[in-house]
Amino acid sequence: MAVSIKSSREIELMRESCRLLSIVHEEMGKIIRPGISTGEIDAYGEKLIRDFGCIPNFKNYNGYPASVCVSVNDEVVHGIPAMDHIIQEGDIVSLDCGLIYKGYHSDAARTYPVGQISKEAQQLIDVTKQSFFEGIKMAKAGNHLYDISNAIDAYVSQFGYGIVRDLVGHGIGTSLHEDPQVPNFRQKRRGMKLLPGMTLAVEPMINMGRADVEWLDDDWTVVSEDGSLSAHYENTILITDGEPEILTLR
Ligand code: MF3
Ligand code: CO
Repeated sequence: MAVSIKSSREIELMRESCRLLSIVHEEMGKIIRPGISTGEIDAYGEKLIRDFGCIPNFKNYNGYPASVCVSVNDEVVHGIPAMDHIIQEGDIVSLDCGLIYKGYHSDAARTYPVGQISKEAQQLIDVTKQSFFEGIKMAKAGNHLYDISNAIDAYVSQFGYGIVRDLVGHGIGTSLHEDPQVPNFRQKRRGMKLLPGMTLAVEPMINMGRADVEWLDDDWTVVSEDGSLSAHYENTILITDGEPEILTLR
């Protein structure tokens, strides 16, 4: 499938889809506390999305049963929320969520501390978030796609963390997942040229230990193989001739 270049009308729709998602994320972030269940976070996120008149794009995606992926501690991504999964002081919790506004998809993820967490866990969260910003410094027309991947890898590798290789970022638009794939680790080639009007979901997933992951028997939850903590940070961005627009941040 070819990489889509959005028209100015489509960019407006992407902006609005992403703006609404940024609000959903901000509101979900406010209810994170010891004692809340991952199922309650999902239900709240879904209600916020539907109250905007939007559709949760994760729900029923390849059979995924919820609107928000809630991944705790060694869970990397695609954790399935449950009313009996109570988050505890000291946990780190990744929320990954998206929505559809007038046919246009948005996608973003953040990792939150629950109460007091260890210095090491906080550093993992901070480095994962910063790696997104290091990557998108390269995300402008005229540069190449894998310049983003290489910048993320160069930054994260200094900390000795494992960059997840089995899952990658992606183009986004009238589908949640479009071409191209956006790896978060070093590539030997520079990849395709970036063009204004491309919209990409850039989403480093970083393990404190080794990069290897495995899938649980629920067929969704991805965990670090060595049991180490994992963090995720994702925004939908727009490529322009200058700095990229981070559409899912206000
Ligand atoms: N947020 C994931 C991504 O960034 C997609 C989750 S699909 C779901 O690609 F089915 F798990 F919801
Ligand atoms: Co994504």
